[in-house]
Amino acid sequence: MKTLTITRPDDWHLHVRNGAILKTVLPHTARQFARAIIMPNLKPPVTTVTQALAYREEILQAIPAGIDFTPLMTLYLTGSTTVAEIKKAAGSDPVYAFKLYPAGATTNSDSGVADIKAIFPLLAEMEKHNIPLLIHGEVTDVHCDIFDRERVFVDTSLTDIVDNFPGLRVVVEHVTTTEAVQFVQAASNQVAATITPQHLLFNRNALLAGGIRPHYYCLPILKREPHRLALVAAATSGNPKFFLGTDSAPHTTLLKETSCGCAGCYSAHAALELYAEAFEHADALDKLEGFASFYGADFYHLPRNTGTVTLEKSTWKIPASYGENETLITPLKAGEEVGWKIQSIHEAN
Ligand code: NCD
Ligand code: ZN
Repeated sequence: MKTLTITRPDDWHLHVRNGAILKTVLPHTARQFARAIIMPNLKPPVTTVTQALAYREEILQAIPAGIDFTPLMTLYLTGSTTVAEIKKAAGSDPVYAFKLYPAGATTNSDSGVADIKAIFPLLAEMEKHNIPLLIHGEVTDVHCDIFDRERVFVDTSLTDIVDNFPGLRVVVEHVTTTEAVQFVQAASNQVAATITPQHLLFNRNALLAGGIRPHYYCLPILKREPHRLALVAAATSGNPKFFLGTDSAPHTTLLKETSCGCAGCYSAHAALELYAEAFEHADALDKLEGFASFYGADFYHLPRNTGTVTLEKSTWKIPASYGENETLITPLKAGEEVGWKIQSIHEAN
């Protein structure tokens, strides 16, 4: 049987929520990833170090016994974040980054930043303390077409941030367009990007052609095929500026399958396998390890993992759902087949 063994990977962009959903989804991630950058867009958002430490404790409690998994915490930037909180975060071991959501850009982003220029003093403080800024890169202008929101953000706010803070480490999260890829490629080594499995595997037809499929609705929204091809090329290029971040974002099936469904695809159940499919289609399985296991750790100045994970080329069917009752979640590719399967995991060499 064909197998592929790589260094244990990390997920550099993950939503695990809290409460009952956390208990349903966290084992999926902890099974395959050694570490994950945990997004702070809870209700209410995680805006202080104190809240992040409490959330971290809740996550640690949800890790299945015997599994070695480390959550890397982030803080949610708001218009009222203080310079003092940034200093405190920079000095706090479990906190690794700040997340910038333009107000209203995506799920639970109402408390985000309305005026990016107004938080420049905060960005200066992050630059000074060398703490990364993670950006949801979409404008929120209601007149801007939803398929253009990332491109316009890249040309305006992102360019402004990167030009004004050349020393700030920036991750452009979940890039979805040729323009974002080109921006990151042309920027300094302080600027990197994560790429999700759904944006590597699907274009907007998966969401909209032949019927509307809410489980393929996430933000930034799936784009046209040429953009998908640009993402595949970037992910499989071996350029260390592009690394794995699933953006696995669980919402209950009820909240997805409704007249105004939530944005977010749940992919943690099969994340590494889905990436393996995407890399195999591009005939680039040899590039998966760098993307999944090396470049993110290097960018965050963390040691690479020492364990391994072995994938085997065998087909399995993704269940129709995970969880039950109020935590029922429909995963990405529910009821469909995926061609790779995790065979074994060795936590350390
Ligand atoms: C994310 C969520 O549900 O928290 N949704 C999404 O569509 N990706 C938020 C985000 O990362 O935009
Ligand atoms: Zn996200």
